[in-house]
Amino acid sequence: MAATIIDGKQVAADMRAELKDKVAKLKEEGIVPGLAVVLVGDDPASRSYVTAKERACEELGIFSDDNRLAEDTSQEDLMALVDKLNNDAKINGILVQLPLPKHLNESEVLLAIDPNKDVDGFHPINVGKMVVGEDAFLPCTPHGIIHLLKRSGVELSGAEVVVVGRSNIVGKPIANMLIQKNDMGNATVTVCHTRTKDLASHTKRADIIIAAAGRPNTVTADMVKDGVVVIDVGVNRVEDATKKKGYRLVGDVDFEGVKEKASLITPVPGGVGPMTITMLLYNTVESAEKAAKSKT
Ligand code: GUN
Repeated sequence: MAATIIDGKQVAADMRAELKDKVAKLKEEGIVPGLAVVLVGDDPASRSYVTAKERACEELGIFSDDNRLAEDTSQEDLMALVDKLNNDAKINGILVQLPLPKHLNESEVLLAIDPNKDVDGFHPINVGKMVVGEDAFLPCTPHGIIHLLKRSGVELSGAEVVVVGRSNIVGKPIANMLIQKNDMGNATVTVCHTRTKDLASHTKRADIIIAAAGRPNTVTADMVKDGVVVIDVGVNRVEDATKKKGYRLVGDVDFEGVKEKASLITPVPGGVGPMTITMLLYNTVESAEKAAKSKT
């Protein structure tokens, strides 16, 4: 059985159309949601993610405040910028693109962001609220994955989910969200990582695999059961002389092999990626709505 491809671009476009209507309604009340994006350094992948985020804001009518800082920016200057953005009423969301250059203290920066503007959901307050099931900004990639699964009609309750990868951005939060006692969760979740002894023994019994290991071919056809649902979070550049840029993007899953056994699978690109940006816009709009309510 060849899999149905989950079209992340289409799901993202549907959600963005809904958000665009919401932004237009807010504008009638004099509210313009604002997102500040902070990029330190010149990493090409980070630069292209940040540009895509800013473009998406413009498309929806969200004010986008672009802050591009030199690679050698000091901790003090970065902290001062975060402080300024925390106190700027036009800004409802602050996103500091990760990873930061090595000389900067990432956790200190994330801790300094006002939790009410933490649209990435990376502040420990929001992480803690997520874990205990309280209302919080949810991190964008895992939140986007849940929407992709739900809008594709995948039953999460009782499903055996295997997450491959334990990053703070994807693996840990998606595992937490999926075990919540609510309609985003109720799944049985196993988290595998680089020290897992026999990865295939876990992936073979999964109803849903979420691959977020950051390594091509981590999941291959011999490691999955028939009918599995596969969400590929990986974005890996592999050399390809036939491409103008000299590389192509692949996920963590051997797409060509696994799609012959899966029931549903996300492509790379065009799967999870567009959803990450969409959930950032979603959180920014929600933040603007909350800020407006707290003023009245
Ligand atoms: N780097 C990779 N993914 C993300 C993300 O979702 N947010 C931020 N801020 N940095 C990232």
